[in-house]
This record gives sequence, C-alpha cells and structure tokens, in this order.
Amino acid sequence: MEYRIELLPREELTAVSRLESEIFTDAWSYDALLSSYDNPCSVFFRASDIDNNTVGYVVLYCMYEEAEILNVAVSPAVRRFGIATALIRAAIAAGEKLGAKAFFLEVRESNLPAKSLYEKLGFVPIGIRKRYYSNPVENAIEMRRG
Ligand SMILES: CC(C)(COP(=O)(O)OP(=O)(O)OC[C@H]1O[C@@H](n2cnc3c(N)ncnc32)[C@H](O)[C@@H]1OP(=O)(O)O)[C@@H](O)C(=O)NCCC(=O)NCCS
Repeated sequence: MEYRIELLPREELTAVSRLESEIFTDAWSYDALLSSYDNPCSVFFRASDIDNNTVGYVVLYCMYEEAEILNVAVSPAVRRFGIATALIRAAIAAGEKLGAKAFFLEVRESNLPAKSLYEKLGFVPIGIRKRYYSNPVENAIEMRRG
C-alpha cells in the first residue's frame, strides 16, 4: 500500500468529516473540525493514497511543553498498513518542533486496536476518566508519552 503523509490542506476537511461520520459513533461535526483546524494550536496531518484521496488523519493540539492527540483514524479499507503509526509519528515530530515534551491522549477502554497502536508508540496508561465518552457511554483510558 503506497501512501503519503502531509499537512492536511483545508479543502480536505470535507473528506475528513466524511471519514469521521463513517468511523465514529460520536463523530466531530464539520464545524467542529473547521474550528479546530483554524485554531493556531492545532496541527492536522493526512494520509493520502496514490489517487490523492484522504484515507487517514490525525489531529494534534499543542500547548507549550504539552500536546494532546485529539483524534486519529484510518479508512477501514487501508488499515494495518502502518498508516496510523506514520500519522502519529508525524504529529509527534511536529509537536516536538513546537516545543512539546509530553504527549497525551484518551482512548475508549474497549478500543483494543487503538490501545495497542499507542502502546507500540510508547504511550503508557496513566489514569481512567469515568464515563468520559458518550454514544455509547464509556470510560476513557488516559495515556502519556514522554
Ligand atoms: C486504530 C486505527 C487508527 C489504527 O490504524 P492502522 O493504520 O490500521 O494502524 P497501524 O497499521 O499503524 O497499526 C499499528 C499497530 O496498531 C495495532 N493495531 C492496529 N489495528 C489493530 C487491530 N485491529 N487489532 C489489534 N491491534 C491493532 C497493532 O499493534 C499494529 O501493529 P501491527 O500491524 O504490526 O500488528 C484504526 O483501526 C482506526 O481508524 N480505528 C477507528 C478509529 C479509532 O479507533 N481511532 C482511535 C481513537 S482514540
């Protein structure tokens, strides 16, 4: 599987929004994505296939020495090719350039693929946020790297 990782062009937010609603039961709306995109603290990367379709994305939010991975997703048809790993590595490198030393994220307790992905990238569990997610209600595991 050939793919490319790059900063997400603004016009690809529609494709991201489509993927969001295909993948997540509690998806971000287009407006929420747009407002996050326009926030100077946010960094969006995308993965594109050889036809230049957006097939994955990651959203990072940086605040001085700390950064949070707010979202990452890959189209079901192209999973297990290392795309999420490449997206998160790109986000971490960008965060480090902006001065981030520690990276945080939350993940649904039942999301074993994502937990395994994050652990491979050096994230460790640091706590639980009870009933953090809606639709369905579920605890979040908080993870940290660095
Ligand atoms: C989680 C997700 C982003 C992984 O994307 P991906 O491109 O398939 O991930 P990668 O190919 O980089 O996988 C890296 C590692 O993650 C783990 N992993 C990924 N998918 C997995 C699965 N279905 N089951 C178990 N482990 C999995 C494996 O350890 C994998 O390494 P390996 O392939 O060498 O075994 C993707 O499944 C997805 O979009 N899921 C829905 C959205 C989501 O849950 N996002 C996270 C929200 S917190």
